[in-house]
Amino acid sequence: METFDAVKTRLTVRSFKPDPVPAAVLGRILEAARVAPSSRNLQPWHFIVVQDSATLREIGNIATSGKFVADAPLAIAIATDNADRPDLDSGRALQQMELVAWDEGLGTCFVGLRDEAQNAKIKNLLGIPAGFDLITVLPFGYRTDDVGVSGSKKNRKALSEIAHSEKFGVPYGG
Ligand SMILES: Cc1cc2nc3c(=O)[nH]c(=O)nc-3n(C[C@H](O)[C@H](O)[C@H](O)COP(=O)(O)O)c2cc1C
Repeated sequence: METFDAVKTRLTVRSFKPDPVPAAVLGRILEAARVAPSSRNLQPWHFIVVQDSATLREIGNIATSGKFVADAPLAIAIATDNADRPDLDSGRALQQMELVAWDEGLGTCFVGLRDEAQNAKIKNLLGIPAGFDLITVLPFGYRTDDVGVSGSKKNRKALSEIAHSEKFGVPYGG
């Protein structure tokens, strides 16, 4: 899949086929994270691979905005240690993971763990040191056939609403 096609067609996926994710595919997703850019190239991230179904179910029980993690065959938690820009560094890595996964026929969903109690419980469950920031848990699995690949399900603002020409307020006409 061309990069632009992956970017245009990618959608958030919240239900997954039960099929396991092959080790080679998981390896490519992790490699996409490893080579991601980060502020000062500090690479402040850790990626915790979770495939144990009991742990996945427990994460789904804890994360109210990510209950679907319970039914995924795989999840990868992202934790940062002393990052300059934890969200941005993680965001660069996870977007690469998501696009590589999409190209492989998989899907994922960013699970925001902004509730402190839920975040702390998942950190504890996964043994993440207290001083680290748990950014998200990304479930991964093969997407079901009804997930669109045409990009037609994207609900986005028009470019004219968000792109400006030379100065703010002058719509970019393309
Ligand atoms: C920072 C961030 C936090 C998100 N948190 C959640 C979440 O907790 N639960 C969820 O189901 N989706 C979450 N999403 C997914 C968004 O709802 C989704 O990306 C958005 O609706 C656009 O849909 P699309 O990804 O299919 O294009 C999050 C996305 C981002 C970027």
